[in-house]
Order: sequence, then structure tokens, then C-alpha cells
Amino acid sequence: MRKMTTDLLTWVAQRTVLRSQKDGIDLSKLTFVPNRWLMPLRREGLDPVPALARARAEAPVKRLASLFGMNIWLVTGYAEAQAVLADRTSYSNDIRPLVGEVGAADGDIGGLGFTDPPEHTRLRKLLTPEFTMRRLARLTPKIDEIIERQLEVMEAKGPEVDLMADFAFAVPFLVICELLGLPDESREEFFALGSARFDVSGGGAASFGAISESRTFLMNATKAQRDAPGDGLIGKIIEEVGDEISDYDLGGLADGAFTGGHETTASTIALGAMVLMNDHETRRRLITDDTFVDPVVEEMLRYLTVVQVAFPRFAKVDHQLFGQQIAKGDVVVCSLSGANRDHRTSGPDLEHFNPHRDWPVSHITFGYGFHRCVGAELARMELRAAYPRLFRRFPDMTLAVDPSELAFRQRSIVYGVDAMPVRLYG
Ligand code: HEM
Repeated sequence: MRKMTTDLLTWVAQRTVLRSQKDGIDLSKLTFVPNRWLMPLRREGLDPVPALARARAEAPVKRLASLFGMNIWLVTGYAEAQAVLADRTSYSNDIRPLVGEVGAADGDIGGLGFTDPPEHTRLRKLLTPEFTMRRLARLTPKIDEIIERQLEVMEAKGPEVDLMADFAFAVPFLVICELLGLPDESREEFFALGSARFDVSGGGAASFGAISESRTFLMNATKAQRDAPGDGLIGKIIEEVGDEISDYDLGGLADGAFTGGHETTASTIALGAMVLMNDHETRRRLITDDTFVDPVVEEMLRYLTVVQVAFPRFAKVDHQLFGQQIAKGDVVVCSLSGANRDHRTSGPDLEHFNPHRDWPVSHITFGYGFHRCVGAELARMELRAAYPRLFRRFPDMTLAVDPSELAFRQRSIVYGVDAMPVRLYG
């Protein structure tokens, strides 16, 4: 039964990807975004465009565009990005003033990422106990099991498979279902909703529509667990603080974990596999030396920085930011991929993937400050298990197409591809 579920999910993933040809969260569809805003989202293959490094060299806090008197600032420096992301006095994450009622049709577009303290603090406190190492440890055997099962799916389908659908999308999706404690039989429905929300071909409003549908799904899952709490995040929050939280808020928290954790982890798995397919030496050591797994995962997180920019921050007050005058209402965008390549903080040669360095390179791939990724440890657990197991099973795996044929998303906050054809046996 479980195997069937997984195969079906893989099939649904492939159909969805083929049907939608989706382009991630396409900011160009949101008419308020000027073209120049998109530079921090552009890459050449896996690397940010050179204009990003030039912007940092010119000014780590730089005006990117001006629109009806509202400035959009781009932050590409490491220390500068940390300062913005940690500042709860000068900035708000509440996007509603910008999208108006489109995004807030039902009064709430959901997710911790869009809320400010004290509401953010209240909601985050409910979520964090479920992400402690102790609670996450229960997922370790599940993660291994899910990965092994997907490897079997790949082997059965080989010698050529789509790494994205058959492995990279499927693994974090099934892990999040385990995290939330969703019953097996509801997972396909949930998967379809999750895919729809990233397809914004109908414009920003349509994608917000899909967001509210998947939130309704999770709200109903919450209602169903009120009487019989499951062993996952939803059930545990109900058991511990059920009286303090509505189904709507808990559905929103679960939804935020799903939005934050699926596409991001999927992209890091797939793009990371692509890096490793091209790096024979690292791949060989990764599968034979357990102590090498951590450095590879940390460097991969830094190098790929799949969440290219943090959520936009809206200035609440006029203030100075590293010599620039920010006005109330201005938008500040922190380029995490730019910050992670800032040689002033972390030394030279940060443009390349290099897990062999003998000094630790810090990164802010998971953000920084009070909105820092709540699922960072879970993501690391998945990556630490996924890369070595994938290459132990298929040590000679290669891309089945020329890298130039891969359809990298052009304007997506979460960088990635929708399909990655690979040959399992070289
Ligand atoms: C490689 C995988 C991941 C990456 C690169 C990533 C990246 C990020 C980043 C950069 C932020 C902060 C954004 C900002 O400050 O504007 C964030 C927030 C968040 N992430 Fe992740 N994430 C990953 C995996 C996960 C997972 C597995 C989960 C949960 C299952 C998750 C849940 C969240 C949530 C709920 C937030 C909002 C936190 C808050 O606003 O307080 N993420 N993530």
C-alpha cells in the first residue's frame, strides 16, 4: 500500500510538472515588480549573474529601482543583510500593504514569513518545539525509509529517470507529510494542491487562491485530528496547546511549514546532485567518508542558496542603512546568494563550490534573525541522508541531457528546475 502511494505520487509529480511547465513563483506576473528587481533572481546555470557581484562591489546596499516614489533597495553584503534581517524595529514582513486585498481576500495570506511580532512571536513559539533535535529525531528512520523507497522507484524505472519528480520532489514532500502527521490516504490530494500554488500562470491572485485552498485542506486535517490527535506536528500542537489555537491558525502554521520546506529542499537535493555528478572527487569521498557529509552539505547550501532572496522587508520608519537613506514605505530586498558570496566576510573564492576548504565558511542560506528558517535542521537531516544514499546506489549517475537543455527557472525566488533527466548507470 505504501509503495503504491509513493508510485502514484511520483506519477502525479510528473504529470503536474509536464502539464504546468511552471516557472516557480513568477514575480514578473505581479505587475508592481519592475524589471530590474529581477536581476537578483537571474543566474547563469547555477551561479548568480555577474551583475550581482558588481552591485555588491559598488554598494552592498544599493537602490535597485524607484516606483511612484517608493524605492526598492538591494542588499548584497553579508553583514548588511544580517543587520536588516535582525531588525524588528525598522522593518515589517507584512506584505498586505503591497498586494492590497488581492492576497488578503480571506483576511489572511498565511505563513509565519508574512507576520510581524508580537503575532509572529506567538505563532512561532507554537511551532518551534516540533523542530527541536529531540522531536526531529523521530523522523530519522522515516527519512531513510522514504529515500530508500524512492531509490527503488528510480531503479525500477531506469535506466533513465526524472530525478526531480522521482526523487527530489517526492522525498521532502513525503517527509513533510510525516512531520505534519497526515494520513497516507490524503496525501495525493494534498500533493496536487501544493503543486498548483506554485503555478502562477493565472497571475498572483490565482496563486494566492491555491494557497488558501491548501490552507483549507490543512485546516480540515487539523479539525479531523481534534478528536484523535496524530503523532505529527498537528497532533502534538493540539495535545499541548490545542485550546490556545484555532483550526485556522494551526492549518496556517502547517501550511507555512509545507510552503517553506517542500520546494526549497527539493531544489537543493536536485541542484546539489547536479553539482556532485560533475565532481568525481567529492562524490567518491562523500560515499566513503561519513565525516565529509557535513562539509559537503554546508558548502552546498551556501553555494546553491536556492532561496535567492529573503521575503521583502518594508521600512516602517525613515532610517539610515549603511550610508543609504531609507524612507518609510521603501522595500528592502536581501540577496542571500549575494551575501553568501561576500568575500569581505568569508574569504576568497566563494563563487565556486569547494567543500575541501580548511576554514569554515558561514552562510545565511536559512536567513538570519527572528524569521530564520524554522526547518533548517530538518532540511539538513534530509540532505545529509539524500546525497550519500543517492550516490551510493547510483555512483555513475549522469545528466541525460546537456546542462544547457535544463529549463532553469528564470524569475523564481526559489531557484531550480522542474525536470532533470538522468541516466542512472553513466
Ligand atoms: C534547503 C531547504 C530550505 C531553505 C534553503 C530554506 C530557507 C529559508 C529562508 C531563507 C527563510 C527565511 C526567509 C526570510 O527571512 O525572509 C526560511 C523561513 C522559513 N522556513 Fe525554510 N528553508 C528550507 C527548508 C525548510 C523546511 C524543511 C521547513 C519546514 C518543514 C521550512 C520552514 C520555514 C518556515 C516556517 C519559515 C518562516 C520562519 C519565520 O518567518 O519565522 N523551511 N526558510
